[in-house]
Amino acid sequence: MSDPFRGRVAVITGGAGGIGFAMAEAFAARGAKIALADLDETAMDARSKVLRERGTEVLCVRTDVTKRASVSGLAERVFQHFGAAHLVCNNAGIAIAGPLLQMTPDDWRLTMDIDFWGVVHGVEAFAPRMIEQKQGGHVLNTASMAGLVGMSWLGVYCAAKFAVVGFTESLRRELEAHEIGVSVLCPMIVATAITANSMRMRGLEVPKAVAEPEQPPAGALRGGVIGAEEVARRVVRGIERNDLYILTHPEQRELLRRRAARLDEAAP
Ligand SMILES: NC(=O)c1ccc[n+]([C@@H]2O[C@H](COP(=O)([O-])OP(=O)(O)OC[C@H]3O[C@@H](n4cnc5c(N)ncnc54)[C@H](O)[C@@H]3O)[C@@H](O)[C@H]2O)c1
Repeated sequence: MSDPFRGRVAVITGGAGGIGFAMAEAFAARGAKIALADLDETAMDARSKVLRERGTEVLCVRTDVTKRASVSGLAERVFQHFGAAHLVCNNAGIAIAGPLLQMTPDDWRLTMDIDFWGVVHGVEAFAPRMIEQKQGGHVLNTASMAGLVGMSWLGVYCAAKFAVVGFTESLRRELEAHEIGVSVLCPMIVATAITANSMRMRGLEVPKAVAEPEQPPAGALRGGVIGAEEVARRVVRGIERNDLYILTHPEQRELLRRRAARLDEAAP
């Protein structure tokens, strides 16, 4: 297979954030051109400067993944600017934690709009053009370990991320014939500013302690915290191997085994 990164065009939603930007850095280090798409223009501009200083060609497009028109506008800009898109990472996301019965309709809507519809919009905007350009490529959707195992306090997030996993498993079967690989990224806890960013997105004031990037989401997945760069390394390898699932933490194995055993026991 040809190099999936060198001279290829990678589009990353949520590209101004922790995992998104770490992927941008890793792809750029392998010679990819980068399109960052994010709601946060200030962060995106600062991040793009870092990549440009290292000699990477970068396009920044302010994008709201919850809006179909905004994401098709992104695709339009990317094809206008680079003439192609080869690696599309539907990665923008938020996390709202708390007991399911305390979740408001707005919590549900915002989570589904960003974490689920954002991914669908990205695939709808890019996949038909990628098929048409006949240059292969790869779609990477960011779910979470919360998309593989149900967890208390993360019910809304789990619902959205399980949907992303199911959507991605189906998409992989449908894009195979077009030589477009498909992966779903399912990390456990990664040191990013997702908790603070998600609070801001809901118009909530961010307490100082939460603003620290090291803070894992409250009451969320238990386990070690790893850096976004480590996640990006695993993504690069997962794309090279066209892995369906990209996992990040060794402790995931036991949790997934237990789920598989419960399903195995339930089968008649
Ligand atoms: N950090 C973790 O522990 C963790 C674990 C599992 C999965 N994830 C997933 O990884 C992905 C990236 O999260 P992160 O931890 O890097 O968080 P982050 O907050 O650092 O980055 C998310 C980025 O998405 C952007 N964004 C939010 N809403 C948007 C919208 N409507 N349109 C465009 N951009 C928008 C934000 O501005 C931000 O730059 C998310 O899908 C998240 O659910 C994170």
